[in-house]
Amino acid sequence: MNVEFADRVKRLPPYLFAEIEKIIKEKKAQGVDLISLSIGDPDLPPPPFVIASLKKEVADLKNHNYSFSQGEPDFRHAVAKWYKKRFHVDLSSEEVIALMGSKEGLANIARAFVNAGDRVLVPDPSYPVYNNGGTILNDGIPVAMPLLQENGFKPDFGAIHPEKVKMLFLNYPNNPTSAIVDTKFLKEAVEFARENNIILCYDNAYSEVTFGGYKAPSVLEVDGAMDVAIEFHSLSKTFNMTGDRIAFAVGNKQLISGLTKVKSQIDSGPPVYTQKVAVKALAAYTSREAPEFLKNNNQILQERRDLLVETLCKIGYKCEKPKATFYVWVNCKGDSMKFATKLLDAGVAVTPGIGFGKYGEGYARITFTQPKERIKEACDRIANAL
Ligand SMILES: Cc1ncc(COP(=O)(O)O)c(C=O)c1O
Repeated sequence: MNVEFADRVKRLPPYLFAEIEKIIKEKKAQGVDLISLSIGDPDLPPPPFVIASLKKEVADLKNHNYSFSQGEPDFRHAVAKWYKKRFHVDLSSEEVIALMGSKEGLANIARAFVNAGDRVLVPDPSYPVYNNGGTILNDGIPVAMPLLQENGFKPDFGAIHPEKVKMLFLNYPNNPTSAIVDTKFLKEAVEFARENNIILCYDNAYSEVTFGGYKAPSVLEVDGAMDVAIEFHSLSKTFNMTGDRIAFAVGNKQLISGLTKVKSQIDSGPPVYTQKVAVKALAAYTSREAPEFLKNNNQILQERRDLLVETLCKIGYKCEKPKATFYVWVNCKGDSMKFATKLLDAGVAVTPGIGFGKYGEGYARITFTQPKERIKEACDRIANAL
């Protein structure tokens, strides 16, 4: 049979992470001791109370039937309660949807609202799903918003032509630049979206991975955001549960109902047991403050961050200690693919900035999701190679 991919699939750029994973696998199969600082998947385990709850809920035979497309009522209630505690934002259960990871939510929201030929504003560099799974696979036209270092890696709304723009993606704390924003910027974003009738999709997946007392805001804290915005969160990074696929989106009721409509035609809700575990995990927050587990987790990440940044600075690669995420975005002084290849040959995998968009060229993303000894070893290899 002569099968041909659909045009929208042919339009997809190569998924760099998949390519990198392939190279890593090949190198490992050859017996190379490669240190992978390229994929944003925490090495630290979920907290013990999450594992205990998972065991209990999996063993309950009532938890193995289909769940509601929008998520179980208890789960949505727990998310609303968490929002109140964490961000002081009031939500009803209708303003919450459960997701099987925020990645599918970010792609499916575009399927619900973007028509063929609609323009979608995508940060560049960015997490590739906004451009690919979200926009291209829904026949939208991605329009890059450059995130430049001199602007603190924030888009310049004044420079954007809003004609035929249906949707805008933003993500802070940011992957890959690890930039953060304050509520003043979020007000500007909401104002821009309201003035131009644009759906604002705010990806807050890293809101809880922060350092030195920094608290990431929610876009829903801004007056008027509920008119235009939907915000995405995930238990993946907050509770080290990337493989458990449990996340949620909250915000404008119409946007939530559009996403529910699409998802109910494609999948069912996440497993009941993961939703029950998520209820327990979110309840660990008793106030705006992170629970003890998370503070310890972030402390471990912070020590690794310091080691990595201090080494890079020492060998002449200027970068700052990020206030959030587990990524260092380093100016690699030239071709990012060459830089990554050089480090790969030295036994360290990092992600070339070009993989996140044209404006990512000249940078590399280095993750600190490996134990401190491995980061130290990687630092030695990097210092030797460069
Ligand atoms: C910025 C950002 N958003 C969303 C996700 C997706 O996370 P998940 O689908 O595990 O919730 C990731 C994963 O790396 C990410 O970096």
